[in-house]
Amino acid sequence: MDTRPIGIFDSGIGGLTVANAIRKALPNESLVYFGDTAHLPYGDKSPELIRHYSARIAHFLLQHNCKMVVIACNTASSHAHETVDAVAGPDIPVVNVIDPVVEEIVLRHTKKKVGIIGTKGTIDSKVYPKRIKKLNKQARVSSLATPLLAPMIEEGFVSNSISKTVINSYLEKPILKGVQAIVLGCTHYPLIKKQVSAYYGKEVAILDSPSLVAKEVKQLLAVNDLAASSHHEPTFHFMVSDKTDSFERSTRLFFKERISLEEVKMWDSPRPI
Ligand code: DGL
Repeated sequence: MDTRPIGIFDSGIGGLTVANAIRKALPNESLVYFGDTAHLPYGDKSPELIRHYSARIAHFLLQHNCKMVVIACNTASSHAHETVDAVAGPDIPVVNVIDPVVEEIVLRHTKKKVGIIGTKGTIDSKVYPKRIKKLNKQARVSSLATPLLAPMIEEGFVSNSISKTVINSYLEKPILKGVQAIVLGCTHYPLIKKQVSAYYGKEVAILDSPSLVAKEVKQLLAVNDLAASSHHEPTFHFMVSDKTDSFERSTRLFFKERISLEEVKMWDSPRPI
């Protein structure tokens, strides 16, 4: 039995969708969450900068005695998984939000044409098609960057005429024509799962990461003998690098309850060259 917390990070508060799924699947586990709101969005930053931010955050989570690191951000998972792995070392498992979804596709949606939507960073990295095709050479994968979606969702625009127009105008793009499964490859997109599903109808499978990642976390804790006991009273600690009322209000959208955020001035020292 290991009562140390699970560390989770994202560019901001969107990763709370993943934190919420982990909390539900593992109600005895303590969580330390870090949202890098000072640098949000990661979706259009360079891979080098994302690796730099992610390494620093991984160190921070280890300083908080985390027994596992979950990269809840798709963009950081795309560019910085190996960096975070290197910081964590062999004893701290690292989970990213891409591999559990890739495994699900390869396992259950083998013959389908798969569409991926996400930030520019995630889509430009080609991480999803590369990893899917590594496991299944015949796979058909089409990707589309949908950068308007994250800020729109963060402002609470998920089920009105504006969000419908934006969502549909992306999904109508010829590149996504004929998809039979679609990956919601961004922390924010689980909030528009219903709307995407309404656009496609029942025939198209909609995949998002939170529940698949929570399942992976549960398995890894068990395999590595890192789980807390069923009597453990968990603690939750939510930190951000820049706190505003608006971020705190938006936590309700992603975590299904409003939570208090603590500001940590992580970036006072200049960026190393
Ligand atoms: N968390 C990011 C992701 O999942 C979306 C927001 C951002 O661009 O920072 O890719």
